[in-house]
Amino acid sequence: MAKGKKAGRDARTALVTGAGGGVGGALVRTLAKRGWRVIAIVHAYADAQTLNGIDNIEAFRLDLDNGDHVTKWARELLGDKVDRLDLLAHVAAVGPVGPAAQATDALWTETLAVNVVAPALLTAGLLPALRAAKGTVVFVNSGAGERGVVGHAVYAASKHALRGYADTLRLEETANGVRVSTIYPGPIDTRMLLQDTTLPEGPGRTTSSGRRAWPMRSCGWPTPPGMCM
Ligand SMILES: NC(=O)c1ccc[n+]([C@@H]2O[C@H](COP(=O)([O-])OP(=O)(O)OC[C@H]3O[C@@H](n4cnc5c(N)ncnc54)[C@H](OP(=O)(O)O)[C@@H]3O)[C@@H](O)[C@H]2O)c1
Repeated sequence: MAKGKKAGRDARTALVTGAGGGVGGALVRTLAKRGWRVIAIVHAYADAQTLNGIDNIEAFRLDLDNGDHVTKWARELLGDKVDRLDLLAHVAAVGPVGPAAQATDALWTETLAVNVVAPALLTAGLLPALRAAKGTVVFVNSGAGERGVVGHAVYAASKHALRGYADTLRLEETANGVRVSTIYPGPIDTRMLLQDTTLPEGPGRTTSSGRRAWPMRSCGWPTPPGMCM
C-alpha cells in the first residue's frame, strides 16, 4: 500500500497505542485528519500497513507484552524521531474474561504486561519528550478500574493498577508541566467486547494479530451471573 504524506517534526505530535483497535483506530484517524503527526503503535502487521497508507500516520508494530522491547523502542524513538511529544495515549489493552478462580499464571502475566507494565515503561521512556512539550498523557481505563466486575478479575485488577500508576504519575509530573488524564469508558462496540482468551473453545473470531476472541455478549458458555453484557 502506498504511504500517505507525513506531517513534519514541527507539527503537534501524538503517540497512540492500540491503534489497530476500535478506540485507538478512531483516535489516530481523527488526530491525523486534524493535522497532527501521529505515531501509531499496532500489534498486527496488517494494521501497520493500513495505517501507514493514511496521511500523517506513521505506524509501528510493537509487542506490548515484552517490557524490554518496549523500553528499547521508546529509547530509539527519542533518539531518532521525537524530541517533543504533545500527547501520549495509552489505548491498547487485553480484556480476558473468565472466573477469577480459573485465571492462570500466563493470563495474569500477559494482562499485567500489556495493560500496566507497557504503559508505565512507555511513559517513563518518553517523559523527556513529554516534559519538553508540556504534553498530556491519557490512560484509557474502564469501569473495571473503579469497581469489581464478575468474570473480569484479571482485567479489573490490571485497570485498578493502571489507575494507581496514573494518579501517582500525575502527582509527580505536575511540577514538570505534564498533564495526566484517565478516562473510564462504558461498553464500546469493539473487538474488546469479543475477547475471551481464557477459554479453549468457543464460537470465536480471530483478531488481526491472530488471537482468538469469543463473543462475551452471546454468553454461549457457562458464565457467572452478571457477566453477560
Ligand atoms: N470496548 C469496550 O467496551 C471498553 C470499555 C471500557 C474500556 N475499554 C478500554 O478501551 C481501550 C481500547 O479498547 P478497544 O475497545 O478499542 O479494544 P480493541 O479494539 O480490542 O483494541 C485493543 C488493541 O490493543 C491491542 N493489543 C492487545 N495486546 C497487544 C500487545 N501485546 N501488543 C500490542 N498491542 C496489543 C490489540 O491488538 P490485537 O487485537 O491485534 O491483538 C487492539 O488493537 C482499552 O484500554 C480497553 O480496556 C474498552
